[in-house]
Amino acid sequence: MDRLTMKTATAAGQSLPHESAHLHVAGAAPYIDDLPELAGTLHCALGLSPVAHGRLLGVDVATIKAMPGVVAVLTAQDVPGKNDCGAIIHDEPILADGEVHFLGHPVFAVIATDRESARRAAARAKDVIQVEALPSLLTIEAAHAAESYVVPPMHLKRGDAAGAMAQAPHRLKDRFYLGGQEQFYLEGQISYAIPRENNGMLVHCSTQHPSEMQHHIAHALGLHSHHIQVECRRMGGGFGGKESQSAVFACIAAIAARKLKRPVKLRVDRDDDFMITGRRHCFIHDYEIGHDDQGRILAAEVNMVSRAGWSADLSPPVMTRALCHFDNAYWLPNVSMHGYCARTNTQSNTAFRGFGGPQGALAVEVALDSIARKLKLDALDVRLANLYGLQENNVTPYGQTVEDNVLRPLIDELVASSDYRARRQSLEAFNACSPVLKKGLALTPLKFGISFNVVHLNQAGALVHIYTDGSVLVNHGGTEMGQGLNTKVAQMVAHTLGVSMARVRVTATDTAKVVNTSATAASTGSDLNGKAAADAARQIIERLTKFLADREQVPEDAVRFVDDQVEIGSQKLSFEQVISEAYFARIQLWSDGFYTTPKLHWDRTTMQGRPFFYFAYGAAVSEVLVDTLTGEWRLLRAEVLHDAGQSINPAVDIGQIEGGFIQGMGWLTSEELYWHPESGRLMTHAPSTYKIPTASDCPADFRVKLFDNINVEDTIHRSKAVGEPPLLLPFSVFLAIRDAVSSVGGHDIDPPLRAPATPEAILDAVDAVKAARA
Ligand code: MTE
Ligand code: HPA
Repeated sequence: MDRLTMKTATAAGQSLPHESAHLHVAGAAPYIDDLPELAGTLHCALGLSPVAHGRLLGVDVATIKAMPGVVAVLTAQDVPGKNDCGAIIHDEPILADGEVHFLGHPVFAVIATDRESARRAAARAKDVIQVEALPSLLTIEAAHAAESYVVPPMHLKRGDAAGAMAQAPHRLKDRFYLGGQEQFYLEGQISYAIPRENNGMLVHCSTQHPSEMQHHIAHALGLHSHHIQVECRRMGGGFGGKESQSAVFACIAAIAARKLKRPVKLRVDRDDDFMITGRRHCFIHDYEIGHDDQGRILAAEVNMVSRAGWSADLSPPVMTRALCHFDNAYWLPNVSMHGYCARTNTQSNTAFRGFGGPQGALAVEVALDSIARKLKLDALDVRLANLYGLQENNVTPYGQTVEDNVLRPLIDELVASSDYRARRQSLEAFNACSPVLKKGLALTPLKFGISFNVVHLNQAGALVHIYTDGSVLVNHGGTEMGQGLNTKVAQMVAHTLGVSMARVRVTATDTAKVVNTSATAASTGSDLNGKAAADAARQIIERLTKFLADREQVPEDAVRFVDDQVEIGSQKLSFEQVISEAYFARIQLWSDGFYTTPKLHWDRTTMQGRPFFYFAYGAAVSEVLVDTLTGEWRLLRAEVLHDAGQSINPAVDIGQIEGGFIQGMGWLTSEELYWHPESGRLMTHAPSTYKIPTASDCPADFRVKLFDNINVEDTIHRSKAVGEPPLLLPFSVFLAIRDAVSSVGGHDIDPPLRAPATPEAILDAVDAVKAARA
């Protein structure tokens, strides 16, 4: 059968493979480093600051220039335009100027004939950078004590937290340390800049934000946006790490390419990627919670301090999301929360799947776990007692009503399917007879707000072209990083046009096609771009319908596009025949499409409004086995029930849930960041010292199910975003470990378990519980 006439049921809602799956598995999906290099291509590597903070006195450029293969050495003075690539605040020089702010700060760029020569020369950085060391702030505590922040503190308040605290029958006061996380995208940061005629520049960039890269490059080169074209066909993962932090590499490649009038590629080594770029923010939470005998929270006073790093980057909105997710699934009548983005002399932290949401929400989950232990209640019952209500107790601390709450039925279904109550009993029986190996169990829910909480970012555009052979080409402003965005957008275009998926092809994201795009972030990729593409397809269908209805003298509702055919009253024509006839009748066979998310408003100063169009929900139950003598542990079984609304592609969504779960589990259990306390050098800067989870860490028994739901809001196909929320599901793993450790003390003592719960952290907590018992 001809590829283009292949029949499928309507594409929306089908578990179709990722559009590049066959290319991924065959190694035939080109990433930027796979693009054939143009003749004359040069390679760039970066010379990095050897100290955490210092006055930059100079760079011995001549020594580097004399090295084999080196063509040029660039410093801040070689930036022709503005030396800045800050995402929100202009506090981020592309190449260090006057001062270096962290160990790893790019100071100079070496351009050489080949990559090895460039790297060898850049590795001489410590010998050629003349710097006078200045005092540095290397920890959250030190920066907070010095009141060193990238933006003024933020405050989110409701009710009378102090008054309710004073009246509360019980109080819990604690501190929780929560580590950061490296994105560890498999394709590292890379940009390939190619000079074009008349001051133009094409940059192939592995980025979640082509438009922002375009703007930064234009400013750095002193040119207009229309001179710069940024293209990204796919990323080998982004996870937030390429939302803003692809900029420094894109700018340097472009600056070098413009100066040398030759194509320049900048692909950073994994270690340099770790040393230069930031990651998920570590947090210290200090909280005091007032609660009643059932564990219901009456008052919460919370201080959150994040490690922002040397510049602002996206730390302020990350903190906003953290504050707006401390409630997670729970009604908090009186809160007083304060967020501090600590400026430290370390890499500038940035977006990472969840964007502060996981950090904020885990704090309340840990607090509820402690409350349950203190009251000798099952933590699940304390969670249920605090859940948002349906008609009352349903307004978030930031003033948004929770209108689509499915928490209770979702949790009830999971409690039943996972046999939670019976397993709790058998676990206690197991622990009673097992002095060393201890089991733990936890069920945690999640509620995650969907939308950028900067209102204007919630917009998207798309182009849909139908060629005269009936094949369809789609371009939209989102980027593909493995999450299946292009697949979902193609499904929605196929669905709207009434054609099979085989007809539809999605092309590379390109700033010359769809302009002024937002980052593919905040899980909004398919919500925004799916709607924009469907809008474009709808406009073409409307034109075709009018054309056919006029010609055949039938009402417009007698024209239907289904299964690659067009029904016009009792007549049936093939889709390509209609397209061909429409072309000869001079009907426009392409359209743009546009979408803006409705109902959003947000006041940044009062932290009140409706920052989210809707919420995604989920819950997970995890059971672990912990060796209390070695600190090793294993996830025995995990069960997830997740709300993706009416899924556009259940297979892709389940893949996102499984991936998010395991990635979040890595964050909370094995991925530990360690900066040398004196030098500020990141010591965990490669897979040799930084442990991400592998396939063998997946539980043997891993059950993932989509909750049967439909979005109450008018989203694309009534689906819900699924990219980030599942990262909160493995809270259940962390709390199951905490449960197992707590059994060492007969559940009388709250284990002071920090995250990540590495074997070392687990042993520390076991020792603390044993010591408190003795
Ligand atoms: N899935 C894969 N395979 N690779 C990624 O880089 N990024 C996550 C998530 N899932 C990511 C991923 C992040 S951080 C976000 S915000 C969403 O995908 C973005 O895509 P979406 O909005 O199209 O869901
Ligand atoms: N996630 C969530 N919210 C956001 C993001 C993100 O990546 N970027 C800006 N707001």
